[in-house]
Parts: sequence; C-alpha cells; structure tokens
Amino acid sequence: MTTTPTGTESATARRAVGTAHPRVEGYEKVTGTARYAGEIPFVDLAHGALVLSTVAHGRIVSVDEAGALRMPGVLAVLHHGNAPRIETEYVGFLGAPDPTTAVFQHDRVPTRGWPVALVVAETPEQAAEAAASLEVTYREEPHDTAFRPDHPDAYYPGSTIVGPPVSERGDQSAALAASAFVVDELYETAEMHHSAMEPHAATARWNGGRLEIVDSNQGTVWVASELAKLFSLDLSAIRVRSEHVGGGFGSKGCRAHQVAAVMATTQLRRPVRVVMTRRQTFSLAGHRAPTAQRVRLGADAGGRLLALDHESLNQTATGYEWVEPAALPARTMYNAQAHRTAHRLVRLNVPSPTAMRAPGEAPGSFALESAMDELAERCGIDPVELRVRNDTQVAPGSGKPFTARRLVGCLREGARRFGWEQRTPRSGSTREGRWLIGTGVACASFSARAMPTTAAITAHPDGTYTVHVNAADIGTGARTALTLVAADELGTDTAHVRVRLGDSDLGPAGIAGGSTGTRSWAWAVNLAARELRERLALGADIPPQGITVRSDTTEAVKALGHHERHSFGAQFAEVAVDPDTGEVRVRRMLGVFAAGQIVNPLTARNQLVGGMTWGISMALHEEAVRDARTGGHYSPDLAGYHVAANADVPRVEAYWIDDPDPEDPVGIKGIGEIGTVGAAAAVTNAVWHATGVRQRSLPVRPDRVL
Ligand code: MOS
Repeated sequence: MTTTPTGTESATARRAVGTAHPRVEGYEKVTGTARYAGEIPFVDLAHGALVLSTVAHGRIVSVDEAGALRMPGVLAVLHHGNAPRIETEYVGFLGAPDPTTAVFQHDRVPTRGWPVALVVAETPEQAAEAAASLEVTYREEPHDTAFRPDHPDAYYPGSTIVGPPVSERGDQSAALAASAFVVDELYETAEMHHSAMEPHAATARWNGGRLEIVDSNQGTVWVASELAKLFSLDLSAIRVRSEHVGGGFGSKGCRAHQVAAVMATTQLRRPVRVVMTRRQTFSLAGHRAPTAQRVRLGADAGGRLLALDHESLNQTATGYEWVEPAALPARTMYNAQAHRTAHRLVRLNVPSPTAMRAPGEAPGSFALESAMDELAERCGIDPVELRVRNDTQVAPGSGKPFTARRLVGCLREGARRFGWEQRTPRSGSTREGRWLIGTGVACASFSARAMPTTAAITAHPDGTYTVHVNAADIGTGARTALTLVAADELGTDTAHVRVRLGDSDLGPAGIAGGSTGTRSWAWAVNLAARELRERLALGADIPPQGITVRSDTTEAVKALGHHERHSFGAQFAEVAVDPDTGEVRVRRMLGVFAAGQIVNPLTARNQLVGGMTWGISMALHEEAVRDARTGGHYSPDLAGYHVAANADVPRVEAYWIDDPDPEDPVGIKGIGEIGTVGAAAAVTNAVWHATGVRQRSLPVRPDRVL
C-alpha cells in the first residue's frame, strides 16, 4: 500500500512497480522498426543543411545566394537578408531564449559555429554540397574564447535557474582562523558536449493550417511552446511529435534546426527536414561550460567542517547567460557555521552553454568531493568516516530539514559491498606489476522535483487500457516505467496496458529533464488510473469508444511546496595507474543510491550505470579544446572528442537502498542524473590514492599524470 498526497490509500497492492520489466519498445528498437526523427518518410520532402560561421566574431558582409541556387537540386537559401522576422524577446522554458535558436535575424556573428544560412535542396546530399560551397564573407572583429580562472571580465550574475547566485552565512575568516585543518584549492573542469547518439533532427510541415514538427526532443510541449513564441502562433496551432529519442542529456529542447525548418517549410510549402551533423552539434546543441572552482574548507581537529566556501566561474556566450550551478552541491551536502556558495560568469565568443547531464551537480561535486578527500587526508581521517561525521539532516543552503537523507546508509552499504575496509589509507602503497592501484569514494546528491503533468487513460471493452501522457522516452525506459505504474493502479497486467507518449496533442506535461520526468508523468498516470479504477468498480458497461478519465497534477505538485527533497548516493572507484605512460584505467566502480522508489530495476540500473559511465568519461576523457586563434574546436567529432567506450568501462555496479518518497503516490524521487554526480571525484580520489598526486583538472589526461 502506498500513501497518496492527500493521505488516502492506494486502491491496489503493488505488483509491477519494483519488478524487472524489459523495455516495452525493445523489440522495435533492436529490430530497427522503431523509427527515429531523421528517418520517418514524408512525401515531397525537402532537405535543409545549416551553414555555420567560420569566424569567431564579426559581421556577415554577403551571402552568395545566387551561386548556391544554381547548384543541382537547390530550392532555397535562407539567411539574415531574406528570412522572416520572428519574436526573439520572451520568457521561455529556461528563461531568456538562447539567441542561437532565433536564426537569421541580423548580420552579427558572436561566435564561430553561429548559424548563418540554411540551404534547402531536393536531397540531403545536394543540400550538404551546396551548404559546404556557399560563399559567405565576413568582416572580422577581435574575439576572446580563452576561458581562464583569473579572467578579468568575470562578474556575478543576477540569477541562476536554481536560485540566487550567491548564498552566504557566518564569518569565513573567523571560522578558517579557528580551524585545525584548511583546504584551499582550485579545481577545473573542461568544456563538455552532450554527444547524444542520435544527433538533432526535425521535419516541419504545414498540415491543415497547423504546424507539425516531427522531432527528437526531451519534451514536445517545451519545443512547441518556444516555437509558438518565436513565430507568434497559438500553441494549439502547433503539434510536435517525438516518438523515439536517441539520447538528449539536456541538449534536446528548441534549437536552431527546428526554427530553420519552420522558416523553410513556410516558404516552400512542402515538408522540410533539417538534421544537425555531428560536428554542428558541437556549436548548436549547447555544451557544459568549463568551470574553475575554488573550494575552501576549514575543519576542527575531528574533521568537522567549520568553514565552507565554494565559488565557481564558468564561461558563457556574449549574448546568452548560462550559469553552470556548480556551487549547488555545497548547499545540500555539508554544513558549516560559515557557509558560502557563489557563481560567477565570463562572457566569451563561444556558443551558448546549457544544461548537460546533472548541470552544476556533476562538475560541482567533482570540486567539493575532491576537496573533502583532501581534507580527509590532512585530518588523517578515513574519507568515508569524514563524510559520515559531516552528515547533516538540515540543508545548509535553506536551513530546512530534508524529507529524507539516507546518505550515511549509502556510504555504509557501499563501503561494505566495495570492500572498503581492506584499503590501506596511505597513498601510493599498492602496486601490481607496473600498475599503481588506488581506491576512492565520493558522495552524490540530486534534487527530487516534479513538474505539472496531465494524463488520460481509456478503458476499452476488451479489458485493455491506453495511457495517454505526453512523456518523453529519451532512452531512459519511461514508456516501460509508466506501463508498470499504470498496471498497478489499474489492477491489471502490464500486457493489457499501452502507453502513448511524445506528442504535444496529448497535453501539457513535464519534460525529460532535471531528473523529474518519470516522477512527474507517473504521478499523473497514477491519479488517472486510480479514478478510472474507481469508476469501473461501480460496474459501468464500457461503450465501444471506451471510458476515459483525465488527470492534472498542477495543484498536487504546487501543494508539495519547497521542501528539501533530494536523492543521495555514494560512489566508489578502483583505478590502476601506469606511472610510465600516465594511463589511468578504472577497474571497477560501485554506486549505492537512496533515490526513491525504483520503478523498474532493469532500466533503473541501466540509467545509474550510464550516469556512472559519464562520470568516468568526465574524469578521464571528455574535453572539447578550442583553438584561441580561430575560436573553433580542434576536431569537434567523436574521433577528437573522446567519450568513454566499452573498453574504458570494465565493471560498474549500481545498487540502491530503500527510500520511497512518502509524498509521491508511487514513492518516486528520480534517478535521471544522480548516477553521474560524484562519479568523477571517486575516480580522481582513487588516482590520488594510487599515486599520491592530486588531480584537480579534468580530464585526467596521461600528460597530467606524468
Ligand atoms: Mo537534463 S541536463 O536536466 O536534460
């Protein structure tokens, strides 16, 4: 039995939730019948290829439209000189819109990789050919793309998406002076890119007076509402569909390709598809800004924190403000009488950064959990024990108690499963042949929120049910999770439940972002299922069209208020370091999470292991390097930008402890992002343990080890 937000009891005992269930669309996916946005056929389809600027700052002087139109198959060339004017000032899903999305509105070029034209042709090859040879001339201006910790133009922004940029309580210098041990270090993380397996792709067409987009995104209403504002359309005049999505990681909202496709289909009156190339995603899909984070910790002789100051600097674009909220973990994880967190920005001629795989928490936990490890070393206290000693049941940022914080449980369970007690505290003490062996630990947290969502469930006369909820399954297994949630509350077998998702016509819903997706959608599905079951229990005959019940969680989500609701976790890593080549190999990783009710252990494990894999990737591989001279990346592709591959990820285990959320009807908190939090620090702390050398800059390339 579960507890509902209003305190009434669930109608049914739980049978499906918590049991392993293969993906309901698994067969379609492995047989290739599941079609992704870029492969869905349309009659009379035209293809658009984006042209990106080759200068890092300046103005467009000319675009040789006539030359391109003489090439085979070319239908149109859209650019700032001929594109329709659209609305660029509005409050969007992430606040002020990213100007990169509002394509072709002026001649200014603020960064290399800025969209300057769309070439539309009969075939993708003709479009690509004409786009590659389109002559665009520029008047160049000086640019600055060099991110550095001491950049003179750094400033404190007015706000962040997660609250005020600065929080401050207590007297730092007094607390530091009173401390027996102090850590004061700079930690740096690299510019990183989402690198979804499926690049962004959208097809736009007008159909019976409505704009239709077939897309790959993390929320169809997100994309539809931004397009409605950009093109001054009523939301009801737009339909966005997104059935299967090959990964998003924060990058799949409304971007330049959808907007360009809408402009082109409006002009040509035929469907137009625009697919980003892999290289274009490095400019157009957003990125995780590099950070430089100073962490200062002061502790008493027993390792208890007296002072904590976490200040992060990240790059942003000249025309768009994105704060990577890296000091955020400090507001959740550790308390101190003097407690400060702060964010600063520096505007550079770089593409717009955005949310990526645990924004803030991932790079921020690297810095904070590294600093905690350094403190443990200085205090001579075991790193697990130091974290246990600094556990707090009150959130340092808000002063409010956590709804539940089972961090110590995760640490203890993780230490037991990992075999932590066999560890020798001293660094550089374990060798196997030429390899130095080390182990490390780090903590993780992620907020557990929900977004207002609507759902509808239809009971059919044959005893089956169709669930309509505008969820986005970006590879997480959302479809399957929602099938389990519905089946339980309807008191039926999962085989009798079909889930329809990924269509803005299904109504408003939360997005697949901020680790809120499954929780938000499951809540609405649970409410609709409960009411439908009650209706059916009255013995009504089901007419041919079925009986449909709708739900809307807007009020329920509002009633949750702003409690400190978080998931927690503990990450453990074992690495081997070759001191002659500088090579670091992760040998095994183990994470234990307290992250609410796990709906489907099979896909949940996939997600947590996936997150931990991104942590390994962040620690050892991912780094987009810019050439300060041209302002562009060296090798912006999956050859030059390394993500962890199979050989880099030997053995990763994810476990969880009981942590159902009493205020959620299914007990869910959300596991979308926590798997990656703390994972990089666990790896680098293990590298220190192996070698005795601290790695404070990511990724830990061989040249940094030597
Ligand atoms: Mo995510 S980075 O909330 O898609």
